[in-house]
Amino acid sequence: ASILVLHGPNLNLLGSREPEVYGSDTLDDINTALTDAALAAGHHLLAMQSNAEYELIERIHDARLEGINFIIFNPGAFTHTSIALRDALLGVNIPFIEVHISNVHKREEFRQFSYLSDIAEGVICGLGSQGYLLALQAAISQVEN
Ligand code: DQA
Repeated sequence: ASILVLHGPNLNLLGSREPEVYGSDTLDDINTALTDAALAAGHHLLAMQSNAEYELIERIHDARLEGINFIIFNPGAFTHTSIALRDALLGVNIPFIEVHISNVHKREEFRQFSYLSDIAEGVICGLGSQGYLLALQAAISQVEN
């Protein structure tokens, strides 16, 4: 199957951005680990990062046309603000898992609301970059069933 990993705003800074919160892995480290793990399981993984809400929406729309089967999505701060991303995901009707590197529930109040969690297959947060690999495992078992 084809799995799309989407990274939202500021995640291009991973590795140097607040390492005490987000760890030392770079976005490339994460994407490489995911690509290898997907390939080893016989699946195809695509990854994209954008700081622009518009580009993320367009990528989600294109995913439908490309026949993407599953999305793993860290929407960054758009998690807490974006009705438009919610509508895009509802519009394409592709199952997705929401991932956050940090435990948003032990941070500021404004991080505790998500516009996406109630329409996600599941949510993983607080487990660092390992959360993406756990999401991939879950995505693979869903697409295989
Ligand atoms: C984040 C959590 C968000 O609140 C924050 O705005 C991010 C990263 C995470 O991965 O922990 O940019 O999604």
